[in-house]
Formats: sequence, structure tokens, C-alpha cells
Amino acid sequence: MTLDLLVKNANLHDGRTGIDIACKDGRIEAVEAGINAEAGETIDAAGKLVSPPFVDSHFHMDATLSLGLPRMNRSGTLLEGIALWGELKEFLTVEAVAERALKYCDLAVSQGLLAIRTHVDVCDDRLTGVKGLLEVREKVRDYIDLQLVAFPQDGLYRSANAEKNLITALDMGVDIVGGIPHFERTMDDGARSVARLCEIAAERGLMVDMHCDETDDPMSRHIETLAYETQRLGLHGRVAGSHLTSMHSMDNYYVSKLLPLIAEAEVHAIANPLINITLQGRHDTYPKRRGQTRVPELRSYGVNVSFGHDCVMDPWYSMGSGDMLEVASMGLHVAQMTSRDDIRYAYDCVTAHPAKAMGLEGYGLEKGCKADFVVLQARDKIEAIRLKATRLKVVKGGKVIAATPERTADLFLTDRPSTVDPSSYAPNED
Ligand code: FE2
Repeated sequence: MTLDLLVKNANLHDGRTGIDIACKDGRIEAVEAGINAEAGETIDAAGKLVSPPFVDSHFHMDATLSLGLPRMNRSGTLLEGIALWGELKEFLTVEAVAERALKYCDLAVSQGLLAIRTHVDVCDDRLTGVKGLLEVREKVRDYIDLQLVAFPQDGLYRSANAEKNLITALDMGVDIVGGIPHFERTMDDGARSVARLCEIAAERGLMVDMHCDETDDPMSRHIETLAYETQRLGLHGRVAGSHLTSMHSMDNYYVSKLLPLIAEAEVHAIANPLINITLQGRHDTYPKRRGQTRVPELRSYGVNVSFGHDCVMDPWYSMGSGDMLEVASMGLHVAQMTSRDDIRYAYDCVTAHPAKAMGLEGYGLEKGCKADFVVLQARDKIEAIRLKATRLKVVKGGKVIAATPERTADLFLTDRPSTVDPSSYAPNED
């Protein structure tokens, strides 16, 4: 049998070394040492890390790469970002949304990011973003798994046609029900919106992913309602709470009751470290809160935690490059997750955990999984995050779809001319 692709001598994300990966017809045929077979293409990984692709479970592709349109966010706050997006919305066209999104998808592929869940604003009566991103989902189908969330950005009850538009978007083929309870007019309206949106998802057999409590207000407790509604409607494992930043500021006793409720309902938690370290704490003087949700504590209760990118060059965030290793790095810094085990966990927060939250079929590096993976210029997960390692090869369906040359530097020092490989600095022990 001739393989389509054979990868030799890989270090795997789970710690195995010297492993070969055989790919045929878009799937992984075997993952073991010493595979010798004919292959259309052979890659010598030479002890580099081969990992399942990066996964971003929280993004806004309708807004990406719009930085400066129609102006910059002067205060840097979430609320000015929402207002600015409102100004831009009326000038959006389907073509412009699709063009920016496709440009971002190219960047994502080059970074080994092959599955993205994007929220799409449904509070524009023309549903411009929905139309644009449905088009993009089709165009990128062969190389990016794109999930769309119907997101009532201006509030389900605060925006006149939000529910009608959200239903229309779902009818048009948007995959998931979104929400933003902390932005409704009152706490009661927020709780009602959570219940209503979960009911819509239950009726249609869909998943839910809500912007939930993206605020520094410790009394913003919609995650409690989200866990309750998940439980009541039997939506276990199909619901995600995104951001959850108010948990950072909540009373510890209350959190000790909340965490087991989230775990019991199997609600996935999605933190967005780059965005929330910049947006939260804006009303604080000093000390300034970090505003990231309680990642180690959620982990200790067995909650599935992911890190999302959220924004790249848009009204909320002027930085970003589609690099999920940067996201993981910020997440572990903000959460002070610095043990070796914690850093490996942070890597899983941008790979296996979001894949689970998104319910991706065939994700992983096992026999029978999709032949999708990334060869990185690093030996292991820790080094990959530390170096924001170069994606040497990005493989989709057993084919190389992107490649970047190794990053090295030539030094012209008169006493010691040399070449520096950033991945050649090993720790003394692990
Ligand atoms: Fe978001």
C-alpha cells in the first residue's frame, strides 16, 4: 500500500518520541515507531513536535481586520468597542466582510489554526455578517472547520429585532445559539435572555455559546443561570460560557458554590486572555484587576477550559496575529500557571480542549483521526509556547497546505561566528 504522507521521527504532543505517522485518504492509518512504507511524500520531523492543529473556540470574524474603521477605540473599553462596531455596521457589505474574513483565514492556516468558532452579529437587520460568513464557511470548508454562532451583539431584548434576526440566521444555516446577558438592560432581562436562548437551542438540537459576564461586576452572575438552564433542558456538554470575567471579581464563597454547578452541567469555559487582560479593570485605579476567569479553579473541578483569540485588529483589540501560542502564553501568564504541568495544560487550552467544546469529529493524532496536524520548530509543548514556535508544515487531510522556513539567525561575531536556533536551548530537567 502506498501512503499519501509519512511523517518520520516526530515528538508527539502527549510526550511520545521517535514516532512515525502514516496518512492515507485523508485519515491517519498508523501512529507508531518504525513505519517503513512507500509514500507520496515523506517528512522528516527530526525530533520536532507534531501536534493536532490549533483550534480557536472564540472569535469574531465579521469584525476582524477592520481596525480603524470608521475610527480607533479611544478609551480602549468593551463598551466603546461595541459602540464603534455599531458605527461601522451600517457601512458593511457582504463582499467586504467576506474579503476580510478570507484574508484572516489565510493567516490562520499559515499558523496551523484549522478550526475556528466565530460569533457573527445578528443585530443588523440586513444580516450582512451572516451572509458574508456563510459564504466564507463554504469557501474554506476544505481546510478550516468554521462554526458560526448567532450573536445578538446589542442584546436579545435591548435590540428591537434581535430574536427575529437570530432565528432567521439559524434558518439560514448558522450553527450555534449565542447571547450576551450582561449587556441586556437589567439583570432580570439578562437571565430571561439566557433561558430563552437555551430553549431555542434545545428546540433545534443546537449548541449554545454565550458571551457571559464579560464585566468586572462581581454581581454579574449569568453563568449561574446558564448552568441552571443547561441542567434544566438537558443540554449537558453542548453549552459554552465565553469570557466569564466577572468570576475574577466574585466573592470566593459564592464561587465555591458556582464551580460545582458549572461542572455538573458540563458547561465549557472559554477564556479570552489577550482581550480580557486589556479590556478588564479599566475602571480600576490601582491595584488593577486582571479580569481573566478563574482558570486553575475551573480546571480543578474538571471543567473543560479553552483559550480563545476573540479579536484580531478590530474595534476591541488592535493587536493579534492568529497565533494561538500567543493566546496560550498570555493565558498562562495571567493565570500564573507556570508549573511544567500547567504550561502543558495551557497548550491543551488551544488544541484538545476547544476541539472538545466544538465537538470536532476525528480530531487528534490517533489511528482513524483526520490527517490534520502541524509540525512545529520546537521539541515539545512547553517550548512551542515559549518560542511561539514556527509552523514548519501545516497538514490538512494528509496534504501539506502551508510551510514556513525554520527560524534561525546567523551571527557575525568576530570571535564566535555561529548560527542560533531558538529551539536548541533545552531545560536541564523536566
Ligand atoms: Fe467575544
